[in-house]
Amino acid sequence: MTLDTPKYNLNKYPEVYEPSEDTFLLLDALEADTSFLLNLKPKIAVEIGSGSGVIITGLASLLKNSCLYFSTDINPQACLATQNTARLNGAPIECINMDLLLGFKNRMFDIILFNPPYVVTDSEELSGSGLNRAWAGGTNGREIIDRLSCNISDMLTPEGICYLLLLKENNPQEVVSGMKGLGFDSELVLQRKIPGEFLYVYKFFRRK
Ligand SMILES: C[S@@+](CC[C@H](N)C(=O)[O-])C[C@H]1O[C@@H](n2cnc3c(N)ncnc32)[C@H](O)[C@@H]1O
Repeated sequence: MTLDTPKYNLNKYPEVYEPSEDTFLLLDALEADTSFLLNLKPKIAVEIGSGSGVIITGLASLLKNSCLYFSTDINPQACLATQNTARLNGAPIECINMDLLLGFKNRMFDIILFNPPYVVTDSEELSGSGLNRAWAGGTNGREIIDRLSCNISDMLTPEGICYLLLLKENNPQEVVSGMKGLGFDSELVLQRKIPGEFLYVYKFFRRK
């Protein structure tokens, strides 16, 4: 099955991250994993930091109505943009303005998607707002990624999968070994070299 980029329009949302090479790599990873995702029979999926909303909307178009779809974003404009993209594509997605998944209490997900702010910056840049929050990743570009990964056990169902986009400068092998220590195996789904960046999509799942 091919996964076309969902329709979106960011004209009213200038502070929202425009789908870019990293977005398209994560969409391509979901497309490459279509059979796996269908076999998983997920009941509840979430995208963290959904920005324009094209990734969670793309997932909804792959899996259709068999699943509940949520997304979150720290940027309120991104939540509006995601709701708009969902509406344009007829996808049933609820986007909630929150930090990571912290507003969900005792809720676990079968699928977690995250194209995080991954650029190496000073830590102070993490306190910005709007578009700044889309890319500033702090030390090693990992400050947001590490906050998620150290809590992932509480957020994924026993069969759950987390798809995470990483940059070479994030030292993906360190993330992989940190997750191993928490009982998660990993698989590199796709990688792509684009001008100035080497990007990877990993998936993480509990060791059997
Ligand atoms: C690289 S952009 C990706 C946007 C979109 N998912 C895409 O792939 O085009 C990262 C997104 O994460 C959001 N974000 C940053 N820190 C966050 C946090 N702590 N919790 C939730 N969302 C966050 C940003 O506002 C931004 O929309």
